[in-house]
Amino acid sequence: MTSNHVVFFDTTLRDGEQSPGCSMTTQEKLTMAHALEDLGVDIIEAGFAMASEGDFAAIATITQAIRTPRIASLARAKTEDIEMAARALQFADRARIHVFLASSDLHLEYKLKIGRAEALDLCGESVRLARSHCDDVEFSPEDSTRSERDFLVEMVRIAVEAGATTINMPDTVGYSTQEEYGQMFREVRERIPAIDEKGVVLSSHCHDDLGLGVANSLAAIRAGARQVECTINGIGERAGNAALEEIAAALYVRGDQYGVSSGLKLENLYPTSQVLGQIITFKPSPNKAVVGDNAFAHESGIHQHGMLANPLCYEIMTPQLVGVAKTHLVLGKHSGRAALRHRLEQLGFSVSRDELQHVYYRFVALADRKKNIYDQDLIGLLPEQIRDRRHEPVSELD
Ligand code: KIV
Ligand code: ZN
Repeated sequence: MTSNHVVFFDTTLRDGEQSPGCSMTTQEKLTMAHALEDLGVDIIEAGFAMASEGDFAAIATITQAIRTPRIASLARAKTEDIEMAARALQFADRARIHVFLASSDLHLEYKLKIGRAEALDLCGESVRLARSHCDDVEFSPEDSTRSERDFLVEMVRIAVEAGATTINMPDTVGYSTQEEYGQMFREVRERIPAIDEKGVVLSSHCHDDLGLGVANSLAAIRAGARQVECTINGIGERAGNAALEEIAAALYVRGDQYGVSSGLKLENLYPTSQVLGQIITFKPSPNKAVVGDNAFAHESGIHQHGMLANPLCYEIMTPQLVGVAKTHLVLGKHSGRAALRHRLEQLGFSVSRDELQHVYYRFVALADRKKNIYDQDLIGLLPEQIRDRRHEPVSELD
């Protein structure tokens, strides 16, 4: 029987770091690793030990500072990579070696220049070698979604026989669709009974080239995957990886659909996103789901009116659920009188119906010319008799 616990495998420090503007020093990786530990992720992929001295040092440092999540290092299916990963992880309380090897003909022929038989041998040998160093070994057939299905199944079967404890089937180039990705998990599991017999965990790893990274990850979970690989703010190669915060919020808000749980502390999602934004060179776009600046902001009059009447009208989760302090009713040219009155009250100005009408006309005229309306702009619109009547502001913000 499949457990209902989903393991969150965070690869912000490895796949996430492999993208322009995202490289991190050891100290920055450590700061991020602490934030990920506070968030409650199960596994932190801290880097690719063989890639550079910096990556090796970061992994080794993180293993000594972080105790709760398991720490993983990536390794190609090569002896020197696997031994380097094992060395970087030697002080970890709980370690994982993550071995990957291409399974698509395209990658085998053009990138690795080896045939299928050699790839199968390498798969078995490398997983066995990794297992001789570590009892927790993940194997990823790279480019799984563009691999010939029988060959993919064969490679996974060999990896499982060699002792892999997790099988991750990445959509390396973000090519798959939900139906197709879910079906791949069902088929592989059905055709390899040893997966269930040995308690091997199936894992998703999705890229976002078609904007389907999160949807495909959720499809894999629905199909029985119990580990999901993802990054904070969805950073990663090209268009990025599936965003951790979006998967986590979807699993919670639509628990009725997925029926799985995780160990994440959802209220740390936004703070963790902020920590990353301060380390790398860019922040999530304002309209980014869950953690973008506008994720809990409302400008139009109809929405603001609905929000003031009952936040459920336009919000499917509270901002506090994910660690955002509060909803923002942003005043702009689409805002209505209700929101303007609400804001004025908060700033300490009670206005009559007629006064509100007068101020509202001036406000709309200003909003037509100006993209952002600040509190000082609003106060500047008020006639003197209203300004003189100012009472204690209700709260600083909306
Ligand atoms: O996208 C990918 O295929 C990867 C593997 C190394 C897991 O990142
Ligand atoms: Zn990847």
